[in-house]
Amino acid sequence: MTIRARVAGTGMCLPDRVVTNDDLAQWMDTSDEWIRQRSGISERRWITPGQQPSELAEGAARQAIADAGLEPDDVDCIVLATLSAEVEFPGTSFFLQERLGGEMPCFDLRAQCCGFLFSLAVAKGFIVSGQFRRVLVVGCEVHSTGIDISSEGRDVAVLFGDGSGAVLLAANEDPHDPSGLLEVRLGAQGKYARKLWIEAPGSGHHPTRITPELLTRKAHFPTMEGRFVFKHAVTRMPRVLLEALDASGVKQHDVDLFLFHQANLRINEYVANHLEIPPEKVPSNIQRYGNCSSASIPILLAECQRNGSLAPGQLVSLTGFGSGFTWGSAVLRW
Ligand SMILES: CC(C)(COP(=O)(O)OP(=O)(O)OC[C@H]1O[C@@H](n2cnc3c(N)ncnc32)[C@H](O)[C@@H]1OP(=O)(O)O)[C@@H](O)C(=O)NCCC(=O)NCCS
Repeated sequence: MTIRARVAGTGMCLPDRVVTNDDLAQWMDTSDEWIRQRSGISERRWITPGQQPSELAEGAARQAIADAGLEPDDVDCIVLATLSAEVEFPGTSFFLQERLGGEMPCFDLRAQCCGFLFSLAVAKGFIVSGQFRRVLVVGCEVHSTGIDISSEGRDVAVLFGDGSGAVLLAANEDPHDPSGLLEVRLGAQGKYARKLWIEAPGSGHHPTRITPELLTRKAHFPTMEGRFVFKHAVTRMPRVLLEALDASGVKQHDVDLFLFHQANLRINEYVANHLEIPPEKVPSNIQRYGNCSSASIPILLAECQRNGSLAPGQLVSLTGFGSGFTWGSAVLRW
């Protein structure tokens, strides 16, 4: 019997603290106009002191589990995508599991802004192989404690926000229910790893992972060659999106919603234009949340479900690009 992996529930959790572009302009040489024009972002959410990434992940996870009509005990495995883990090790997933209870296997997956798409592929593999029936897939990021909020870091700092999104992926063996993940296509190009990265702390540094020298040159903050990233994003995203559609036998005009990673509104407008996708099929929330890396796509999916944009039987394409470089696209029938 064919086992499909379907999204049985979605969830999202954003910190309450809103940080506007004008707030940022108090700490660095930037402006609301510059940020909105270049990225589309108006505000983002930041955690408050004492708040942990796993707290956001718990909020999103509990919603996704409840939305699927399940309890935390029913989860067979947790896959959590993050580039901003709560501590060096173990991964954020372990702190999430502590909060949810249980002893199900859990692990973190590192694929940056494509982390959720890579995690979906892994979770789908677990389900269709029969290893697990219910896999919680979480994207969770806290960027606010890892950015340089002085003028030196302004090109990156204005783009990122904190948040978590989750889905409960469950086995679907009902031959009359076609809902499920049809295809996930992924790619990576490690030769560009240093184009968007945080160099430290890292086990390749001697004699310790973080040194006064690394701190002095701010190697613990992200650096990015923005234009280079932009160029590659607008090339890779349409290509992988079409590959995933092709592999799943779905025609582009039959897709009801295109959910893009929320890195930059201009990137997404460019991709939509290039593929002649009507803007009403490309919802966005980057205006309110900024780039939440691995959490952006599941937060957008959860919002679309809540605002009634998703109906059973609809076809949804999820596409992203990020540090690594990584890219990916998933096609699912809701
Ligand atoms: C980051 C990005 C918005 C910058 O836009 P850009 O048009 O490429 O801007 P540039 O980096 O060329 O900088 C243009 C000018 O704005 C300045 N600038 C950079 N950040 C600024 C900020 N926050 N506020 C005001 N000015 C800023 C630069 O210093 C530069 O000034 P100069 O011309 O005097 O040297 C854009 O490159 C981008 O979106 N790249 C992709 C980023 C991305 O998606 N990352 C995540 C992938 S997951």
